[in-house]
Amino acid sequence: MIVSPSVLSLDYSDTKQQLEELNQSGAQWLHFDVMDGAFVPNLTFGPDILKAFCKASPLFKDVHLMVADPFFFAEVFAKAGAECITFHVEAVDSEEKTHALIQTIHGFGAKAGLSAKPKTDLAALRPYLQEADLFLIMSVEPGFGGQSFMEGSIARIAQLREWLDACGSDALIEVDGGINATTGRLCADAGADVLVAGSYVFKNNIKEAVASLCFDEQL
Ligand code: DX5
Ligand code: ZN
Repeated sequence: MIVSPSVLSLDYSDTKQQLEELNQSGAQWLHFDVMDGAFVPNLTFGPDILKAFCKASPLFKDVHLMVADPFFFAEVFAKAGAECITFHVEAVDSEEKTHALIQTIHGFGAKAGLSAKPKTDLAALRPYLQEADLFLIMSVEPGFGGQSFMEGSIARIAQLREWLDACGSDALIEVDGGINATTGRLCADAGADVLVAGSYVFKNNIKEAVASLCFDEQL
């Protein structure tokens, strides 16, 4: 299991210490939530902050764009060091443009991810099963950390796993929102490959919380 702690919940009054603990934990990825105040009613980080994380941490930079103009921001964050750029299927108004943005992200040398909000029909992801590198199932409404996991997400993960296996795609399934050791286990059993966790990691002992999500290594 890949664990991708979301630095949305990092304690910014203690950044140095928290990042040291994160770098020494079993986390392989660092999840970076970009919010523009338009696609979601919250505002977070610009590219200079991502550059600073690239300097301060060797973890794989997993950038989640919750923005109304992913074409603009994909380039901005690719140049700032994003290694995977995930955008929302709801933010692009045609299949043609969605295919084009996936190709554009690949052209930047980054992995391309596609995300769906909890109420979006999962079928919206189907045209891209062979093309995207990652699918991000939102298990809360995007915008804020600390919300409760939506149980209906488990069936969505299982459905996506079935579609990916059926077409021989090795794209990863990532889950984001309300992840802790209990909900994370349910996601892992349903077929998730990557767990994003914000509050659970940064409001507890970082190393222990990450370790409790590394399910396959506990077997
Ligand atoms: C929510 C963000 C998440 C957030 C998760 O819109 O995409 O990445 O940090 O936070 P928790 O783990 O606290 O639900
Ligand atoms: Zn996120």
